[in-house]
Amino acid sequence: MDRIVVRGGPRLEGVVHASGSKNATLALMAAALLAEGETRLANAPRVRDVDAMLELLRALGAQAEWLSDEPHTLRIDASRIVEPEAPYDLVRKMRASFMVLGPLLGRCGLARVSEPGGCAIGVRPIDQHLKGFAALGAKISLDHGTVEARVEKLVGGRVVFDMVSVNGTQNVMMAAALARGETLIENAAREPEVLELADALARMGVDLEGAGSDCIRVRGARRLRGIHHTVSGDRIETGTLLTAGIVTRGDVTVTGTDPTHLDAVLDKLREGGAELDVAADRVRARAGEPLRGVDVSTAPYPGFPTDMQAQLLAALCTADGSSVVTENVFENRFMHVPELQRMGADISLQGRAALVRGVPRLAGAPVMATDLRASACLLVAGLAAEGTTTVSRVYHIDRGYERIEEKLRSLGADIRRES
Ligand code: EPZ
Repeated sequence: MDRIVVRGGPRLEGVVHASGSKNATLALMAAALLAEGETRLANAPRVRDVDAMLELLRALGAQAEWLSDEPHTLRIDASRIVEPEAPYDLVRKMRASFMVLGPLLGRCGLARVSEPGGCAIGVRPIDQHLKGFAALGAKISLDHGTVEARVEKLVGGRVVFDMVSVNGTQNVMMAAALARGETLIENAAREPEVLELADALARMGVDLEGAGSDCIRVRGARRLRGIHHTVSGDRIETGTLLTAGIVTRGDVTVTGTDPTHLDAVLDKLREGGAELDVAADRVRARAGEPLRGVDVSTAPYPGFPTDMQAQLLAALCTADGSSVVTENVFENRFMHVPELQRMGADISLQGRAALVRGVPRLAGAPVMATDLRASACLLVAGLAAEGTTTVSRVYHIDRGYERIEEKLRSLGADIRRES
């Protein structure tokens, strides 16, 4: 069980490069199952969730590995899918595994995927995914925790999501890519990862339009070809690193990400008083004095992303003034609050809202990570704290951040990993 030990105090300064987007990579890896040929994904992050997806693709019969001579490039060849079944022990580890269901339905007309369990941040049902597949003609059955979807041939249809679902939108888009005829997806997610997947599907041979809006039209193809794609920079890692710089009153530049992918985050940091310089593929953040308290409500893109809620909350603990942080996307995404309170944060929870009163300093303490973004938030808090913070269960952070402690150390943080 690794732990990360961080001692607060140093101002973070310098330039750091963001890794490729974990969430875009996971969707693109699932999409590679649609192609009868080789797909290459460059700039993919070396994180545990990507390795888990590699293991799942191999279990389905695809060839899937990291290129030996290009350490951040994945090679996937799904010409042969032998087993359209995603076993529980793989899906349990990572909910995004459920995204193989759409491609398997398109390729094999059959898919058996274990129902992903809930997780620390909420129940996270899959009813919207299933509603989409049913609209394309699939017969869905639940059998002892395994979802079985079966269809002779998917036929395009109209899908209206009851709520915005990122992976739901992506899953149905991928099924529609091999359906006969046209599919209309309404109330679709608009996240950059949806748009990136749509661009890749178009290059694979799918005729689609409207991605990035809430209405996507997909005309299915008969066969799809593999492509070479470079994954975009991770917008959440970028936001996390900028917030870490700001909370230490530092001067940090993050390169490798399209800043328009995190506009809502940048706007909120500016509202808090940070000074931001934005260029095509980089953002520089400076903060000479404490952030001012701000109110923030998470929402689907282009709103403030729920995946940045914990990290911003950590920064607001030492802001000058009060803040109200409202989590509207997940029902239980405040697991990091008790840990922040152990560090001296003044936070009270009322339903979906966390009321934060800024305190001058947090005090370092041993804390425990509960999920990916909560663990990132505890690192941000530790950087701003007096003394030493030890974050345990950092396997959570390794799911979605590549060598985060090395990136922070390169900016001047006093941080190390202990086994
Ligand atoms: C994606 O999860 C991301 N994961 C999450 O990032 C992110 O927090 C989330 O989108 C929201 O932006 C990946 O892309 C791999 P949703 P996803 O379906 O698609 C409810 C991270 O830290 N819902 O958009 O699973 C659901 O319970 C991870 O990188 C249903 O009710 O999220 C939630 O309340 C965490 N039924 C809301 O919709 C469904 O069928 C949004 O979930 C599907 C979702």
